[in-house]
Amino acid sequence: VEVEWSLEDAEKGGYPHYMLKEIFEQPTALQNTLGGRLHEENAEVALGIELDPHAFDRVHVIACGTAFYAGWVGKYLIEALARIPVEAEIASEYRYRDPVVDERTLAIVISQSGETVDTLEALREAKRRGAKSLGVINAKGSTITRETDATLYIHAGPEIGVASTKAYTAMLAAMSLIAIWLGRARGTLEEAAALELLRELRRLPRLVEEVLERRDVVAHVAEKYHQATDFLFLGRHIQAPTAYEGALKLKEISYIHAEAYPAGEMKHGPIALIDPHLPVVVLATEGPLYEKTLSNVQEVRARGGHIIAVATDGDEEIRRFAQDVIYVPRVHPLLSPIVSVVPLQLLAYEIAVLLGRDVDQPRNLAKSVTVE
Ligand code: G6P
Repeated sequence: VEVEWSLEDAEKGGYPHYMLKEIFEQPTALQNTLGGRLHEENAEVALGIELDPHAFDRVHVIACGTAFYAGWVGKYLIEALARIPVEAEIASEYRYRDPVVDERTLAIVISQSGETVDTLEALREAKRRGAKSLGVINAKGSTITRETDATLYIHAGPEIGVASTKAYTAMLAAMSLIAIWLGRARGTLEEAAALELLRELRRLPRLVEEVLERRDVVAHVAEKYHQATDFLFLGRHIQAPTAYEGALKLKEISYIHAEAYPAGEMKHGPIALIDPHLPVVVLATEGPLYEKTLSNVQEVRARGGHIIAVATDGDEEIRRFAQDVIYVPRVHPLLSPIVSVVPLQLLAYEIAVLLGRDVDQPRNLAKSVTVE
């Protein structure tokens, strides 16, 4: 018997798809992003970047696609911990809209490939107007890293699947580090609060591992809902971007129409869509807006909607409103996007596989978009 092994099979390390392999590589990727950068002894992070944290009083975070959602989370993190006004910007908009930038602006560009042309051109635009720049990048020596004043590598390792997974959670971890660095340097983040965040960051690889061990729960949900033609994703505060990223993953690889909304905005339109045929994924993890999110869940339920909740371990209350609950381990609310996006990646993956889609090479998409 002749068994054929392609190089590709070998590189997938036993996984049927790169995407699944990369989802499961997230604990390691996170370890590599955080490695050597957490210093509990003085509640500081060491980023090894030569940028003066006092040299700016506004931040523009600029990116495309999944990296943009990491930027949006970064806005919440930096504003919460460092009290600097932050705009999260889609690069293709930013580069053409005459942004207000000066020498006291820090432009943070986020990119897995470091080659996305819109992100690169937005960076050039910000620099022309005097901004300092920081890249949050995966690919070593990529074009963007050669043009920023400083680069913080996320060290996620090569990402082959077109739909970004491990690069996203690594970007989120990197944005947390940047926010803590700024907060400590600028005196807005107390030692005790910083220490708590550092300890939580250190637990992240293990927590993500725990989520991955619950893959069968997600597979069950996928089995139940994979015939739906539309999905709605809801989340609030720092979990709003998680909802958008969950919807993006599902669109990209399953071709199911999915929309995301900040849950509080639902009453201004999307609530009209609610019916028994529209599964609604709600990020309902512990945090300052938990109760508000719960009332949004009740609004959906009251209109016959099907709720799939991502909730914190131990939350029994949510079971009264959600038909399906995917539990994730408890973590500091500012870090909850890193833990909560993992079941959404798995959900998109499982649904796409059930529908027979080409998970690693979805139609019409490219891993790196170097043309406009
Ligand atoms: C493409 C990919 C996305 C990615 C986006 C930005 O559209 O398909 O997965 O998020 O580009 O890529 P970057 O390399 O800049 O992070």
